[in-house]
This record gives sequence, structure tokens and C-alpha cells, in this order.
Amino acid sequence: MRLAKYLAHAGVASRRAAERLIAAGRVTAGGVVVDDPARDVGVEDEIAVDGRPVAPEARVVYAVNKPPGVVSTAQDTHGRPTVTTLVPSQARLYPVGRLDADSSGLILLTNDGELAYRLTHPRFEVPRTYIARVDGAPVTAAALRALRDGLTLNDGPTAPAQAGLLAPDLIELTIHEGRKRQVKRMCAAVGHPVIALRRVRFGPLELGALAEGCHRRLTGIEVDRLRAATGAED
Ligand code: URA
Repeated sequence: MRLAKYLAHAGVASRRAAERLIAAGRVTAGGVVVDDPARDVGVEDEIAVDGRPVAPEARVVYAVNKPPGVVSTAQDTHGRPTVTTLVPSQARLYPVGRLDADSSGLILLTNDGELAYRLTHPRFEVPRTYIARVDGAPVTAAALRALRDGLTLNDGPTAPAQAGLLAPDLIELTIHEGRKRQVKRMCAAVGHPVIALRRVRFGPLELGALAEGCHRRLTGIEVDRLRAATGAED
């Protein structure tokens, strides 16, 4: 890992501030000053700042049941509550992907940048399942078929999806693309604007009985399963 990133992961400073520490000659590897923020380092390099050893922050993943009204960015320019404030952790957590402010349900927070990248990049096709309460019920078989087969949105065609009905106005939809407001746009395109949207599954992970506003740390096995869902081997 690049030295500046390593320091940031270790919770020493932000990536930028870490670069400044490096430029100031305050960072050493095995006792020798390192001035290249891009130098590839690991725990074996005995990195220290001002002579004090730094250890990388343990990697953690939390599941959060985001309530509507909470934003899923790390910071909000409009002063709305952010999902990171729902998890009291010393780790530098950031949200894995986005849920609209008015959507609810399962969102992951982690300090593992590589895992977050793999879970959100469309290339890895990690499925997410949503339950949408929609207007214009009952939802027709033709509307479900269109959701399943793929339809054309203003940013292009959608990939085939899984769609089923839980009630006349309740669609369960599984997609693996993660385009902006995709579920709402797909449902609207088949004549059923979304009234309320909840994410209930992310890859192998279920929201389950986690109450709104609550969080839990994932077990090692759950994190391994998430990683495996992206095709990663370790
Ligand atoms: N699709 C949407 O339209 N909104 C979300 O929050 C998530 C998926």
C-alpha cells in the first residue's frame, strides 16, 4: 500500500495531511526517513511518525439500517444527519455506495477501501435487493416482465433483473448495476412511481431484524462472504 494511504488507514491523518508529514521528513521506515508518499509499504516496514510506530487500523465492516432522512455521504453540505454518525467507532468509516436520503435499509460502512470498491463497482455485479412500495397498484405482470427483461432509461438500457410481487403495491427487485436512483427510475418507467424504498439485501448479506437507526459489526465470516461475492479469493 502507498505510504500516504497506509498512514491514513492507520488513522494517523487524512491522506493529504499524511503527505505533508512525509514531505516534512517526519515519517520513517525501519528508522530511515522516507520522502516518497507513493512508496509501497506494509506492516513489515516498521513505519513510524516522529519516532512513534504506527499500526494499520483494523479493518471493520458495519451493517446499518439507515432511516429515511439520513444521508449516506460521509458529510452533508445541507447539515442533514449522516449515516456515519449512527456508528460510534474510532475507525475512519465511509459508506459503501449510496442510498437516497429518503430511502431506508441496509447500508454498509467500512474503512476497507478495497472491499468498498469491489462491492460498488458494476464490474463485480454484486446484487442488491430492494422492496419498493409503489403507486398505481395493482402492479401488472407486464410491468414485472419489463423490470425483469430490462428497459431503457435516459442513461441507457438496464440489465436483466429479478422482480416479484410481495403485495399488489409491493415490488421486490434485485439489480446489480447501482446506477443513480435506478430502482425509482425503473419503477416509474413501468408506470409505478416509488412511494417508499428499502434495501433488504446486499450481496449475501440480509438486513434481517436490524432495527431502523441501528448497526452491527459484521463477523469475519460475513466479511469473507461479502468479499467472495465480489469474486475475490481471500
Ligand atoms: N435505487 C434508488 O432509486 N434509490 C436508492 O436509494 C437506491 C437504489
